[in-house]
Amino acid sequence: MNIDNIFANNQQWVQNRLELDPNYFKSLSQGQNPEILYIGCADSRVSAEELMGISPGDAFVHRNIANMVPNSDLSAMSVIDYAVVHLKVNHIVVCGHYYCGGVKAAMQQADLGILNPWLRNIRDVFRIHKDELNEIEDEEAKYKRLVELNVQEQCINVIKTAEVQSAYRDRQLTVHGWVFDIHSGHLKDLKINFKKVLEDVMEIYRIV
Ligand code: CO
Repeated sequence: MNIDNIFANNQQWVQNRLELDPNYFKSLSQGQNPEILYIGCADSRVSAEELMGISPGDAFVHRNIANMVPNSDLSAMSVIDYAVVHLKVNHIVVCGHYYCGGVKAAMQQADLGILNPWLRNIRDVFRIHKDELNEIEDEEAKYKRLVELNVQEQCINVIKTAEVQSAYRDRQLTVHGWVFDIHSGHLKDLKINFKKVLEDVMEIYRIV
């Protein structure tokens, strides 16, 4: 890819948008009112809007390595606060993906420098679910299951926040766990029973 082409592509994109709607950028500039906060992986193959078939303005997006919501990560916590309290989103999606390099790295014995503390959060997910994961003999199946369990645990981290607990109480905000299957392109809903998970974790994490 020639980096200079990006500006030519951008010109073309502006033209295409204006042909469809001459007021497109005027409307965009008037503000955002997204319904969804999407928390996904930074992986270049897993684009947020494109795989959901939505447009700019529809989702507030946060991406990092392995779609993590670490409890003390100021960036993720600020995104959740802004999306829930100020933008008033009604859905928070944590979307993982099979064959995630971050999850793979956390399954291996390797010193990866500054990545160590980040990936340790995924190792914690493995430890919490080690009985189930160690039952799985097939390495690929174990890898895929850890991707799913990581999504589930990051949903729980979302639920631990005061902002989400208040929004659930006041307007039934919902948290969803999804996985994008890079092999087929399909999105899979893990169908996390949000109410049950919420009740389970609230016994310990209720702060509102
Ligand atoms: Co990934």
